[in-house]
Amino acid sequence: MKRVDSNPGRATGYNLPMGTLISVFTTFVLLCGLAALAQEKKPPEKLVLQAKTGNVTFDHTAHAKREKNDCKACHDKLFKQDAKAPLNYKAGMHKPAETAKTSCGACHRAGGSAFGTVGNCANSKCHVKSAAKG
Ligand code: HEC
Ligand code: HEC
Repeated sequence: MKRVDSNPGRATGYNLPMGTLISVFTTFVLLCGLAALAQEKKPPEKLVLQAKTGNVTFDHTAHAKREKNDCKACHDKLFKQDAKAPLNYKAGMHKPAETAKTSCGACHRAGGSAFGTVGNCANSKCHVKSAAKG
């Protein structure tokens, strides 16, 4: 008998936490939005790209400046605003990217707005072997 009486109480008991859940969820969504905005406002100065042939320092500030701070020159068509996202540039000694005019190869290629990879492997423009490693 007592168990039957407690059932209506349970039903109303569900309604209150639901409101709480909705406001918690709304707060969460708002915070995610703020975090995304904050990230967009903080472009990196430099990114060190790891490579066996010697790491490459991508000067983000210099690159943005040369594009007159037009972020759309690269984002998000060529690159995500996420340093952990793959660049899709390494494969095939950069030739596929240069041919398809994607990733760094959108500019860095023969006939592009910047020097291509051919003939630039050994002049320290890109890959730099650390002195310690020899
Ligand atoms: C010449 C191309 C280029 C231009 C112009 C450029 N970026 Fe980037 N940006 C990159 C690359 C490359 C990455 C790294 C992407 C990757 O690793 O996949 C990056 C990454 C980022 C990141 C992510 C950093 C992190 O720590 O995850 C932010 C934020 C960013 N850029 C903001 C901007 C803003 C704001 C502008 C305009 C003022 C801008 N970028 C202009 C190439 C560019
Ligand atoms: C929107 C066009 C554009 C894209 C995309 C781009 N670059 Fe550049 N980059 C340039 C220009 C322009 C220069 C200056 C060329 C010169 O001085 O002859 C440059 C110069 C450089 C230099 C020489 C150092 C410096 O910053 O002056 C390096 C290294 C370099 N880029 C690496 C990269 C890498 C790695 C990527 C891809 C993650 C990339 N770039 C993508 C336009 C671009």
